[in-house]
Amino acid sequence: MDIIESAGELRARLHDARMAGARIGLVPTMGYLHEGHVSLFRQAVLQCDLVVASLFVNPLQFGPSEDFAVYPRRPEADARIAANASVDVLFMPSTEEMYPQPPVVSLTLQGIHDHLCGRSRPGHFEGVATVVAKLFNLVQPHVAYFGQKDAQQLAVVRRLVRDLNYAIEVIGCPIVRDVDGLALSSRNVYLSDLERPQAAVLRRSLLLAEQLVSQGETDVQELLRQVREVIGSAALATIDYVEVVDPDTLTPLTRLAGSGLLALAVFFGRTRLIDNTLLCVPTP
Ligand code: PAJ
Repeated sequence: MDIIESAGELRARLHDARMAGARIGLVPTMGYLHEGHVSLFRQAVLQCDLVVASLFVNPLQFGPSEDFAVYPRRPEADARIAANASVDVLFMPSTEEMYPQPPVVSLTLQGIHDHLCGRSRPGHFEGVATVVAKLFNLVQPHVAYFGQKDAQQLAVVRRLVRDLNYAIEVIGCPIVRDVDGLALSSRNVYLSDLERPQAAVLRRSLLLAEQLVSQGETDVQELLRQVREVIGSAALATIDYVEVVDPDTLTPLTRLAGSGLLALAVFFGRTRLIDNTLLCVPTP
């Protein structure tokens, strides 16, 4: 695996592969890699000739009171994990390499970030869209891989590709979970020994909603009430939001018809966890 830190070197490395007709896959990450990231690498390796993983903690997507400074970092271990997963190129730029000057041009979004995490993290998805666009321009991949765990991010990236005419196929990959159902996340490391077992309540609440929908419940208020009740049973949980939205536009739904994305964000202490599931109304 090549470890590349400069944009120029990355372009040169990829130019030759592109000329040779290689299908290039990109997996953007912020590092502190876990099995969720690895599942994206594996999918990319199966479908592409050359896989680029990026590892960059993007300051633009963190709010002033968020965890940019303390976001967990372990680049050496990450490089080993990426190499073991058969990633070909690990792009690990410094902040100065990605943003040599304070950006004058960045992306703004309309509507799609008004709900869910967008509401509690102002500017976050604009920071994500901007860095993903930069990575798309640097790597010019044929395919890019994102996790369904960050469902709103995936929806934003799909619109980025459509609205700005990137010739890139975006593939959403399933959520990888721990044995008790907690979605893997680099931020799980923040959870205390008391918080960690309680965090499994999130998956239980989603499973209950899936069960209710399979039994015919379509009233979103009732679903949300029951989901909140389950989460409320964990003493250390504080709900940021629980919503059911249209999976593409992310606008809130009041009644389920077809499918709806049930998404939630819950604090355990200062750690904010997100999870989601697609609710599908059974066809008669
Ligand atoms: P990061 O949180 O490191 O996640 C990188 C990718 O891994 C994202 O597409 C995310 O959805 C996926 N992922 C994380 N946990 C997962 C899990 N448990 N199962 C499946 N996939 C999972 O998301 C970001 O970084 C950044 O916002 C980024 C897109 C890199 C832009 O800075």
